[in-house]
Amino acid sequence: MSGVSSTREIPAHGDVPQHVAIIMDGNGRWAKRQLLPRIAGHRRGVESVRNAVSACIERGISYLTLFAFSSENWRRPAEEVALLMQLFTSALTNEVEKLHRNGVRLKVVGDTQRFGAKLRALIEQAEKHTAANQRLTLSIAANYGGRWDILQAVSRLIKEKNVVEQIDEKALAPYLAMSYAPEPDLFIRTGGEQRISNFLLWQLAYSEFYFTDTLWPDFDAAALDAAIVSYRGRERRFGRTSDQVEQAKRAEVA
Ligand code: IPE
Ligand code: IPE
Ligand code: MG
Repeated sequence: MSGVSSTREIPAHGDVPQHVAIIMDGNGRWAKRQLLPRIAGHRRGVESVRNAVSACIERGISYLTLFAFSSENWRRPAEEVALLMQLFTSALTNEVEKLHRNGVRLKVVGDTQRFGAKLRALIEQAEKHTAANQRLTLSIAANYGGRWDILQAVSRLIKEKNVVEQIDEKALAPYLAMSYAPEPDLFIRTGGEQRISNFLLWQLAYSEFYFTDTLWPDFDAAALDAAIVSYRGRERRFGRTSDQVEQAKRAEVA
């Protein structure tokens, strides 16, 4: 499944998206509304992550990808960045065993070189420990940027394969940060903004987009279900006409 490219083949579709990717936005505003410091919003955000993971498992979703820290988030005040790194470190320390027990494979995608040695070691351990799990693949995008991803993939391809011209999609695909996963079927952004903010630029080529004003700390299983209902109502045409899609569906049933 992971090799299917939406611009080259028509991916299989079901009632439940196989891969959900979320920009978890609105922690700061949630905290502000409660007259709390921004970090309190990030802490509550971790609870929403826990809920989202269980909800995805219950609904049979196989891949959940969460944008936790963008390559542009270093521009935030040093204190907030430091607290976010601490939160990431403690989540990796405290949550991995439970994820493992629940059959979750954890992956961290992004330029992890910029993190401290301790955090990098924790990431490596967590990925190794959970590598064989098959129920849900949880990818945390940390120091991730869509442009970084495309550039690192192209650079590695050129270097390893000695190619100087004619790069095609198929050659590039294995070098992208999420080569182990199918492309997201459903993209969700909480917090009211309607933008990609340099998330999965390549991989979202044919994803269905869903925006909600709900702030990430308030995002629960019911909110996820609302997104899935919206997803189910979409017709994914992948460039074809509506008639062709109907015909293909009838052929599938027959
Ligand atoms: C998303 O919430 C979490 C991160 C980017 C780390 P924000 O911190 O962006 O929350 P708002 O947008 O300020 O409300
Ligand atoms: C995007 O949220 C990144 C994450 C959720 C990690 P931001 O809140 O940083 O996005 P912009 O800068 O407002 O677009
Ligand atoms: Mg934000």
